[in-house]
Amino acid sequence: MANPSGAQDTQVLLQQQEGISEERLNEILSSYQGKEEELIPILQQVQQVFGYLPEPAMKRIAKFLKLPESTVFGVGTFYAQFKFVPSGRNIIRVCRGTACHVRGGARILREVEKQLGIKPGESSPDLEYCLETVACIGACALAPTMVVNNETHGQMTARKVTEVLEQFRGKK
Ligand code: FES
Repeated sequence: MANPSGAQDTQVLLQQQEGISEERLNEILSSYQGKEEELIPILQQVQQVFGYLPEPAMKRIAKFLKLPESTVFGVGTFYAQFKFVPSGRNIIRVCRGTACHVRGGARILREVEKQLGIKPGESSPDLEYCLETVACIGACALAPTMVVNNETHGQMTARKVTEVLEQFRGKK
């Protein structure tokens, strides 16, 4: 159970987690009234800012909404959209839909896995990339496809995977 000293306790915990700022969390919470029905929008916003739901932030949210921590964690784990571990800053999505599959999508995925050294659902150790697969991105005419953050790349080949990733690394 959380220490009743609340915010100060949370601050120490948050500082221990790289990139998580107590100040930023308070800023997010200040735009809410502390009502129970605000739980999901708060979780969504916290995840948007931090990239995942850090445990200390979940405890702080529970205090803010005067809800048991188990309720807050329960809601967070119920929805697939919420993540509890940090994920890579740049999201690489490879399409696994039918159109992409018949045009060699599996080969593209293998190539991306090889080049990034991670499997779908994983992040690179430096948290630069995370790899996901999607059912269809709605660009079947360009199959096989992949998306780097919000940029769609079509008619992918193994060679084009190298080009796209190199081009992206060069842009950063
Ligand atoms: S199946 Fe890949 S874009 Fe539609």
